[in-house]
Amino acid sequence: MKDQLMKTQDKNIISHYQDDGLLDRIDAGLCAAGLDPEKVKAADLTPVDEFHIGGREMTLRILSMMNIKAGDQVLDIGCGIGGAARTLVAETGCRVTGIDLTPEYIDVAKTLTARCGMEERLQFQVANACGLPFEDETFDGAITLHVAMNIEDRVALYAEAARVLKPGADFAIYDVMRTNDKALAYPAPWATSEKTSFLKTPAQMRALLHEAGFELIREEDHGDMARAFFQKASPGADQTPPPLGVHVVMGADAPLKIRNTMKNLQARCITPVVMMARKRS
Ligand SMILES: C[S@@+](CC[C@H](N)C(=O)[O-])C[C@H]1O[C@@H](n2cnc3c(N)ncnc32)[C@H](O)[C@@H]1O
Repeated sequence: MKDQLMKTQDKNIISHYQDDGLLDRIDAGLCAAGLDPEKVKAADLTPVDEFHIGGREMTLRILSMMNIKAGDQVLDIGCGIGGAARTLVAETGCRVTGIDLTPEYIDVAKTLTARCGMEERLQFQVANACGLPFEDETFDGAITLHVAMNIEDRVALYAEAARVLKPGADFAIYDVMRTNDKALAYPAPWATSEKTSFLKTPAQMRALLHEAGFELIREEDHGDMARAFFQKASPGADQTPPPLGVHVVMGADAPLKIRNTMKNLQARCITPVVMMARKRS
């Protein structure tokens, strides 16, 4: 029964993200921005391929807190279309394996990575974060950016992350977290309704990470940045959005998802938090 419930939940999550036609929409945006989709560089894609609040800037901030070197094997749990994974590789020379539940995102991640000529250092596969298809102690580091909001079984998620990381490895978590228990406005960028939204408070997260075998190294609340980010992402009624932006990934109801997130942030119900953890030796 529990397994059946999980499978239905996974299907609901995939149907929230999967939109068949994402690559065409990205290509149309690239063309409208004067770029040849077949000749893109990773930097050309950054407005659209980092589906978390703050985009590439936040990825770089998170990376600056991690001990990742050239040649390291890094896991991106819930990699989306691979923007953060490509940023990690370009910045450090590490190798990244990205996994994600949504098949279309993995297809797009592979295509964009090949077009950027980066496929030698990056691989992507469809997998569930709660049952990772890797041996124990495979990775030198891991990131998970705006993924756990969809995951009810956080004990399994963090146990799996701990299992596949080497002792002493860094684990960077960046999620939207709960700051009170008022009702949230949906659809949100991560969930169509509360059925697939499982936000935790920072205090619950600290306890979960400790239980899974992690030491918390650093914690940062980025609520102010998020309010400024969504202000900028909300075009006025008379403006058309730029050709490339995360709204392209969010789909047709992107303006509503952005407005709802702004509402939730302004009501101080949610806030995006970075937690930098290290697997205890
Ligand atoms: C908001 S997107 C963030 C994508 C990416 N981390 C980024 O920052 O660009 C959330 C992602 O989490 C993935 N996801 C949700 N639940 C998952 C699970 N149980 N296992 C793997 N991926 C999952 C979704 O398919 C989606 O790609």
